[in-house]
Amino acid sequence: KNIAIIMGGFSSEAAISIKSGTVVYKHLIGEKYQPYKIHILKDKWVYIDEENNEFPVNKNDFSININANHITFDCVFNAIHGNPGENGIILAYFEMLGIKHTSAPFYQMALTFNKRDTLSVIKTYGISVAKSVYLNKGEKIAPDLILDKVGLPCFVKPNNAGSSYGISKVYTREALIPAIEKAYLEDTEILIESFLSGTEVSVGVIQYHGALKVLPITEIVSENDFFDYEAKYEGKSQEITPARISEKEEIKVKDTAKRVYAILNMSGFTRAEYILVNGEPHFLEINTVPGLTEESILPQQASAAGISLFQLFDNAIEMALA
Ligand code: DAL
Ligand code: MG
Repeated sequence: KNIAIIMGGFSSEAAISIKSGTVVYKHLIGEKYQPYKIHILKDKWVYIDEENNEFPVNKNDFSININANHITFDCVFNAIHGNPGENGIILAYFEMLGIKHTSAPFYQMALTFNKRDTLSVIKTYGISVAKSVYLNKGEKIAPDLILDKVGLPCFVKPNNAGSSYGISKVYTREALIPAIEKAYLEDTEILIESFLSGTEVSVGVIQYHGALKVLPITEIVSENDFFDYEAKYEGKSQEITPARISEKEEIKVKDTAKRVYAILNMSGFTRAEYILVNGEPHFLEINTVPGLTEESILPQQASAAGISLFQLFDNAIEMALA
């Protein structure tokens, strides 16, 4: 089967996505699949072969021509973090063309890439979340009103972004505006959330052979202020799988993670973050194209569950084609 692994994208996460996509590519090469690395970049959509030759993608039917061969794809493996992969935009295009892909349908992807909208849905099901304030670019900023609601310290985040780009932890009133300005460099919408004191856990949920499976839970202990970009990709954090939490907490987190997956109508694999506050999981966010680099959490969790990366990716394709 021909598999197009799409990677890159238009956001700050493009380089990480190329790493993720390359890991998928390495593991898919074999008898069962013929994988193709397709870079979706701002200025070009290209297939890149082993010798780094580039072939343009035909956008009308998402095919490529290599010498005299016209190649179409049985399935798209979505490895684009952020825009336009994780937010569903390119998936709507595949859905129009009738090409299967490994992600949830475009609407679920669009919804869950928007942190505020995800929280507002999750909240109505009685799942705990942090208090937050939402801002749109151009809106007047009232620090006192914001801090009355969320308190200090708080987190300032771009509403639609990943890998902690543009996120700050704010300790003082003076630091609030600069943090907001920094987040606006990534996005036109911002979310300011209260700091939750507790144990941070990252929970992978996948559909494995048709059944929902929660992977071993990872505890995140950051040397930095929070699980920021450096902590994620430059080793400045400890990721402990399985998390050092009680059995009762584990059951509660797993149950919440499965509910969240169902509430958000997800498919494929996801990884969501929670803070356990006095044993109660508070939902932070869900990643629908979780990092698949060697440093990333989901691959570590799969391996702790005895699932190889080939099995993980093969299963995602099987589920997409089913
Ligand atoms: N957004 C990054 C890739 C992650 O969630 O792993
Ligand atoms: Mg994220």
